[in-house]
Amino acid sequence: MALCISKLVIFSLLFASIMFFTANSHTFSRSLRPEKLGLKKQKLSHLHFYFHDIVSGRNPTAVRVAEAKMTNTSATAFGAVVVIDDPLTEGPELSSKIVGRAQGIYTSASLSEIGLLMVQNYVFTEGKYNGSTLSVLGRNAVFSGVRELPIVGGSRLFRFAHGYAQARTHSLDLKTGDAVVEYNVYVFHY
Ligand SMILES: *[C@@H]1O[C@H](CO)[C@@H](O)[C@H](O)[C@H]1NC(C)=O
Ligand SMILES: *[C@@H]1O[C@H](CO)[C@@H](O)[C@H](O)[C@H]1NC(C)=O
Repeated sequence: MALCISKLVIFSLLFASIMFFTANSHTFSRSLRPEKLGLKKQKLSHLHFYFHDIVSGRNPTAVRVAEAKMTNTSATAFGAVVVIDDPLTEGPELSSKIVGRAQGIYTSASLSEIGLLMVQNYVFTEGKYNGSTLSVLGRNAVFSGVRELPIVGGSRLFRFAHGYAQARTHSLDLKTGDAVVEYNVYVFHY
């Protein structure tokens, strides 16, 4: 009888600990087949749009939020930090169809020429891309002909995105500083 009870106790303890360990076995990592996430074939997409950097007027979409003591006397505005929510349009006119916005920051990060560090998300609103984003992290020497910026990631339709964007200045108003920049984006995604 005593033996039976102790067996029962041992069994219950064992059972309880199994329950305990299964309840607490949160798996930190596991490998997964891509199909499990609905990832089939990698695609390459080309996006074309115009980026409007509006720094002047009553409704600027690019505002300087920080600078250094030397920024105003620096030939390259070194140290200026600008936050943007710039419209992206199908054609070069601001009145043409809006396909998304570029939201983020650019910083004047070169002492020797105007070279911006661009850290921003393209937030698309057009068609099936509505709600999908691409993340850009790159260098933009704005007075060079074609600048190339890496696309480092994306969301929704652009999950696992990687690629590059090519920027060409379409027009620049030297008086106001407003600029329209043509973008060609080439991106791999699923
Ligand atoms: C730089 O110039 C702007 C406008 O000309 C002015 O508002 C700002 O206070 C100046 N900044 C410094 C640090 O001198
Ligand atoms: C994009 O999606 C949002 C939220 O679902 C919706 O309110 C908006 O009307 C959509 N925009 C376009 C252009 O389809």
